[in-house]
Amino acid sequence: MSFEDNLEKRTKEVESILISYLPEKRGFQKTVIEAVQYSLLAGGKRLRPMLLLETYHFFGGNGKIVEPFMAAIEMIHTYSLVHDDLPAMDNDEFRRGKRTTHVEFGHAMGILAGDALLNYAFETMAKAVDIAKQGPKEQYSICLEKILVVQRLIAEKAGIYGMVGGQSVDVEATEKQEPLTQEKLNFIYHLKTGALIEASMMAGAVLAGASEKEVQKIEDIASKIGLAFQIQDDILDVTSTTQILGKPVFSDEKNQKTTYVTWKGLEECRRLVAYNSEEANRGLKALSKENSCYDGFLLELINWLIYREK
Ligand code: IPE
Ligand code: IPE
Ligand code: MG
Ligand code: MG
Ligand code: MG
Repeated sequence: MSFEDNLEKRTKEVESILISYLPEKRGFQKTVIEAVQYSLLAGGKRLRPMLLLETYHFFGGNGKIVEPFMAAIEMIHTYSLVHDDLPAMDNDEFRRGKRTTHVEFGHAMGILAGDALLNYAFETMAKAVDIAKQGPKEQYSICLEKILVVQRLIAEKAGIYGMVGGQSVDVEATEKQEPLTQEKLNFIYHLKTGALIEASMMAGAVLAGASEKEVQKIEDIASKIGLAFQIQDDILDVTSTTQILGKPVFSDEKNQKTTYVTWKGLEECRRLVAYNSEEANRGLKALSKENSCYDGFLLELINWLIYREK
């Protein structure tokens, strides 16, 4: 099977897990649930739940305990996109090939759909306890501990010392048209995009029972993937088309945003994407050990991200 076919197959598998955790549409609040479903089902690469699952496999994990966390991380990521597109932030009207949630449902419902997604992510993670209860009795307390560790980790990486922190420095710098130092630009990239990618891979590692040292190494590897991923996002903003991307091109220019592309130019950015991805790959190879579940897909996925077109 070609890598592309394999990726498509695995994306569908991730999607079916996500669908199994969607909130049911009922009650007077059905509009907000509809907006949640709309934003989640609009498509998207499903990269974060895929990285979570593949890292779990990388460390030999093979149970269902990862599934609620896969769904939850995609909910948190999707909420970050719904809010990122609001008029008060990047003011974009197209996402994942469809009208953005606030354009389709109105601004207030866009804000509430984001709030609902974030909250539902935590409700979803708590469902891992039900899966732990079905497993072997002697594993139950170890399992509960892992669930708590992962919830804390995801909360931190999504929060003020993670994605929200990065987004807030990003919007503040853009609003004030503040000249950015390399240090501040890296801070923004590391948090607004790197943090959720770190959370995804670290969660997979913890759930599979990786050691603390291994989890630390995964954090470092994921941080490099995150940096490469956001630089490639900036490159595509100026080189791709709205049709391929499923979101507006030149969004950064419209907002007069300082990005890696405006800072370093396209050529250097392409080099940095390749360099950081290769470093991440090198780190992963150094960690890999014999285990029956790991089939090499994670390494291929990271290589593919260097040349991704959307
Ligand atoms: C977009 O993320 C926001 C960034 C962090 C660059 P993705 O490119 O993963 O968006 P989807 O999930 O595929 O729509
Ligand atoms: C946003 O970065 C990262 C998030 C945390 C949502 P961008 O603003 O560049 O993401 P896109 O290009 O709108 O997807
Ligand atoms: Mg933004
Ligand atoms: Mg944006
Ligand atoms: Mg962008």
